[in-house]
Amino acid sequence: MSATESELVGAARRYLMNNYGAPLAAFVSGSGSVLVEDSGREVLDFLSGIAVCSLGHCHPAVTAAIAEQAGKLIHTSNFFANEHGPEVARLIEDLLAIGEGRVFFGNSGAEANEAAIKLARRYAGEGRRRIVALDGGFHGRTFGALSATGQPAKQIPFEPLVPGFAHVPPGDVGALEAELAKGDVAAVMIEMLQGEAGVVPVPDEFVLAARELTAAHGALLILDEVQTGFGRTGEWFAFQRLGIVPDMVTLAKAIASGFPVGALFARAEVAAAFQPGDHGTTYGGQALAMAAAKATIRTLVEIDAPSMARRKGALLGEALEKLPGVAGVRGSGLLLGAMLGSPVARTVQAKAFEEGLIVNAIGDSVVRLAPPLVVTEDEMATAVQRLGAALRRAGETE
Ligand SMILES: Cc1ncc(COP(=O)(O)O)c(C=O)c1O
Repeated sequence: MSATESELVGAARRYLMNNYGAPLAAFVSGSGSVLVEDSGREVLDFLSGIAVCSLGHCHPAVTAAIAEQAGKLIHTSNFFANEHGPEVARLIEDLLAIGEGRVFFGNSGAEANEAAIKLARRYAGEGRRRIVALDGGFHGRTFGALSATGQPAKQIPFEPLVPGFAHVPPGDVGALEAELAKGDVAAVMIEMLQGEAGVVPVPDEFVLAARELTAAHGALLILDEVQTGFGRTGEWFAFQRLGIVPDMVTLAKAIASGFPVGALFARAEVAAAFQPGDHGTTYGGQALAMAAAKATIRTLVEIDAPSMARRKGALLGEALEKLPGVAGVRGSGLLLGAMLGSPVARTVQAKAFEEGLIVNAIGDSVVRLAPPLVVTEDEMATAVQRLGAALRRAGETE
């Protein structure tokens, strides 16, 4: 007999580390925007495993590709090629549309950023070691990525961090220029829409200036599109709205519908700095992961994911803005932050779950929504109604 939901939650508390806090619930299945608890209760997932399941849960094309590949070949090693890896890299190059490049595959967003940091230093050579990133940016929890992250609360308990990282406020072009003028910067790293900071957009003029200034000072521009990539913001990648050409782009999350994959794309000239033995990871680019990524990206192309995100994001944003308790909405496409009029975000998250809706509190006053891009208009209407109920109940409780 399978364990009940409360047994599963209890076992998780007993046997798993507490770094994620206690689990709210346990799901046994999922389809599209819906997750199902053991009791049969259905919950609308407006977080998509944190912007991962853009095609919804268990999209048939992805499930079939994983099942088929699992029966043929799962893993060899990077001493060998497999039938999917180069094709996934080609699809990424096509969608990025910034010219010829090369891809390194890892297993997570943090690993994609680690690779970017190492490649930047390798390319820049001696004397250009520093990485400049932005306050508020989030790049992952491993030491290099954590050092690039601009959120002291996540960093301080783990100091000393990796040397050679500096942070400037997003929007402060003067501060960025002052760092670059020191002549020792290998790369500037930017998350254009700061998801983990509360869906906060970095000003366009700053990103445009960063592109010009990095080029002028001989530094690289790395864009972290781990959360924003693959159509979520209404473009294939958030930077495309600005028409700039970054030197590297880091990817993960939506790339393989929840199969753990991260990727670093670098312009060919930059990528050439990595020589055999410089970097690697055992599972990176293995056949099973690449089968999942190929099926995911092809399906995202078939459904025209960016236009879906644009159209549905506009509808959802409009509806959210009308909710009592919501002071404003920021973000783009289907990566939205509802800014609350009072600091009740955590209560709203909990009440929303009781109402049958998964959203994510960031800090006290922002609720993040990142539903699957395949969400239906009916599901959006239901979600808004459930969120409205949660906001009302949170107001009564506080
Ligand atoms: C912008 C960004 N970069 C990097 C990461 C780290 O990705 P991962 O958790 O897969 O290591 C995240 C995760 O939320 C992210 O949002």
